[in-house]
Amino acid sequence: MTYDLIDVETPADWRAYHAIRRDVLWTARGRGGYDENHADEFLPMNYPLMLTQDGEPVGATRLDRRGSGVGIVRLVAIRAQLQGQGLGRVLSQRVEVRARQLGITTLFVNAVSNAVDFYAKTGWEPFAWDPTELTNTFVVCVQMRKQLSARP
Ligand SMILES: CC(C)(COP(=O)(O)OP(=O)(O)OC[C@H]1O[C@@H](n2cnc3c(N)ncnc32)[C@H](O)[C@@H]1OP(=O)(O)O)[C@@H](O)C(=O)NCCC(=O)NCCS
Repeated sequence: MTYDLIDVETPADWRAYHAIRRDVLWTARGRGGYDENHADEFLPMNYPLMLTQDGEPVGATRLDRRGSGVGIVRLVAIRAQLQGQGLGRVLSQRVEVRARQLGITTLFVNAVSNAVDFYAKTGWEPFAWDPTELTNTFVVCVQMRKQLSARP
């Protein structure tokens, strides 16, 4: 298998990226109102990313770059039928490589409760990084941190 973390750029990329997020993070949780045109997707410091397996989209996330070497990982999703097969770990590793390339040394995430163990197994620790983020659907999230070593 060949894995790549690609920037979401072409119309086909955007369709696949939104489909994964809508299916996994909205529809499967009984939520509506997914907004493909949310302004945060287009901010210059935010990086919509997709994991491909042999060229096929299998996962999505967005890496938001903040100042002072900080990045926020948002809306991590692996296609439902492919979860539990190591792809989340691959996505995590590839995002960390990209983060280092961007000068990021500390990552933050708002983890939904059923993903906390996944993050713990991939090196994250509970850390209250910004309580003001925990509003609306995020109120039940656990804030976590991962400090990146200088080299992978
Ligand atoms: C959470 C998610 C990204 C993990 O990806 P994945 O491909 O299923 O995870 P992996 O197969 O790479 O698992 C890596 C490790 O985490 C563990 N793990 C994964 N999901 C887990 C879960 N929900 N609870 C406990 N452990 C979990 C695996 O057992 C594995 O551990 P191991 O290496 O000791 O065997 C994926 O399941 C997903 O998209 N879930 C729905 C959306 C979601 O919750 N996103 C997170 C938003 S904050």
